[in-house]
Amino acid sequence: MQRLAANWRRAGVSIAFVPTMGCLHDGHLTLVRQARKRIGQKGRVVVSIYVNPTQFGAAEDFTTYPRTLKRDLKLCRETGVDAVFAPNDEEMYPGHRGTPSRRLAATQNFSTFVVEEELSQTMEGASRPGHFRGVTTVVAKLFNIVQPDVAVFGQKDFQQAVVIRRMAANLNFPVQIVVAPTVREPDGLAMSSRNRHLAGNLRRQAPALWRAIQRAQSLVRRSGSIPAPKLKAELKKLMENEPDTRLDYVEFFDPETLKPIGKVRPGTHVALAVFVGKTRLIDNERL
Ligand code: PAJ
Repeated sequence: MQRLAANWRRAGVSIAFVPTMGCLHDGHLTLVRQARKRIGQKGRVVVSIYVNPTQFGAAEDFTTYPRTLKRDLKLCRETGVDAVFAPNDEEMYPGHRGTPSRRLAATQNFSTFVVEEELSQTMEGASRPGHFRGVTTVVAKLFNIVQPDVAVFGQKDFQQAVVIRRMAANLNFPVQIVVAPTVREPDGLAMSSRNRHLAGNLRRQAPALWRAIQRAQSLVRRSGSIPAPKLKAELKKLMENEPDTRLDYVEFFDPETLKPIGKVRPGTHVALAVFVGKTRLIDNERL
């Protein structure tokens, strides 16, 4: 992949990149279409598919994360992707013995990690210690391999996009970071590879995240400003109406700094993480 990218660049061809963990859905494919739009017909669009062990906790869903490579390759072909990079663990983390752990210890041949120390501390970072260390490390590696001019990320993982943008700026990666809006199912559920784990009764409860966001939007638009603890309690109550959901966190924050906000106003961002059965879902929007 690195040689292919270098050849393209030598020939003056620009590269747009969409990193994924596969099990592609319309959210991913929207990023691919955005990548094509940014880079034009003369450019190349690259998708990576790699379930990155270093961003999963030992008790998380690394082993059950859905893997559908054959189907993914077909979707990429149909969407006009020029190259798919789908490495294995040994290529990405030489010496790694297959333990799905974000605490991946240094192995004999892999001992360098990329860590963002500010924006990655709250929300997903607080709830999944070490998660962003895995994300920034793998994305830095992928940027060095694919050498993109543009990389497209989804707003679905809002904090991730902000952390990556900071990493790219701080470490001088010559790449423009583009963030594309969240793609939703007709009932508002944000598309996610993990939605595959939701059947019947659980799938029916999953739009509770979107309903909570909408409730927050309408309350904020109606009253102009609401104390965060009050709005938090309101959304928590809403979640308690669904028997199989458990709220992990809901945060109100400044979309640029990710700093928590005490008085929620239009323009404040909300993000939440909720277990639906055993599946952990996240969502966010601007209020
Ligand atoms: P993954 O969850 O596969 O997501 C890949 C990209 O698709 C991310 O930028 C994510 O924000 C975006 N995405 C997912 N669901 C979306 C939706 N419903 N609408 C719009 N975009 C959506 O995020 C990761 O993989 C990994 O952490 C990765 C960056 C690949 C590093 O391993």
